[in-house]
Amino acid sequence: MGLFKKEKSLDQASMKEGVGLITLTEPTSVIAEQFRTVRTNIQFSSIDQKLRSVVFTSAGPLQGKSTVSANVAVTWADQGVDVLLVDADMRRPTVHQTFQVPNKRGLTSLLTEETFDLTNTIQKTPVDHLFVLPCGVVPPNPSELLNTKKMDKLIQELTKHFDLVIFDVPPVISVTDAQILASKVDGTILVVPQGIVEKGSVAKSKELLEVVHARILGTIMNRVKAENTGGYYGGYYGTEDK
Ligand SMILES: Nc1ncnc2c1ncn2[C@@H]1O[C@H](COP(=O)(O)OP(=O)(O)OP(=O)(O)O)[C@@H](O)[C@H]1O
Ligand SMILES: [Mg+2]
Repeated sequence: MGLFKKEKSLDQASMKEGVGLITLTEPTSVIAEQFRTVRTNIQFSSIDQKLRSVVFTSAGPLQGKSTVSANVAVTWADQGVDVLLVDADMRRPTVHQTFQVPNKRGLTSLLTEETFDLTNTIQKTPVDHLFVLPCGVVPPNPSELLNTKKMDKLIQELTKHFDLVIFDVPPVISVTDAQILASKVDGTILVVPQGIVEKGSVAKSKELLEVVHARILGTIMNRVKAENTGGYYGGYYGTEDK
């Protein structure tokens, strides 16, 4: 008899291989078009206040945060906007695999070194105007690293150099990292896979984000059935969840 419940192991595919960049491989597909719609909707959600930093999170793991944030980043860069995608999911990082860049240095280096050496840490990607900051060496204490004045300073510094900084972060319900980062950025987007997440956990996520006064811009419905949207991904955003 085990004293402790064995933790269910999560799928490792996107950590090993990165996520699919359909906006890059099939830019004329319906799915890529859906990602462009998501981008446009996010832009319109923040018309009064310039959006310089955005967090993408979800209630639980494996709900499409990394896929959606990376693809939306590509569509934004396609418009000629200088975008930085930051892998702030220090628990299940994917960005270095997705964009095939080294992960020796990354966000954790910047947060633990005396000065910000952006030049040697931020990487170019094959997409014009799109840069990435990989996670770097996975630390034992991600929440403590993120919940610092240094992180505030880093966000300030990054938004000086880039038009838009997108953060891929862990799920809201499991750990506090998303709440910490959501409280520091201009806007937060909740990725909700249709039919997979229970309504209760979406409401709980919203509650947790509101506690830290995150500005929730809206939700993106992921894994929406083709017959409902005309596409595989649903770029549905910011109505009743607001
Ligand atoms: N709309 C979709 N349709 C089909 N598969 C999808 C879709 N969105 C994501 N996936 C798949 O689901 C898995 C998880 O996606 P992804 O890594 O983007 O989620 P995540 O929320 O970032 O996960 P993690 O909790 O590990 O950070 C991946 O294998 C990805 O290819
Ligand atoms: Mg992820």
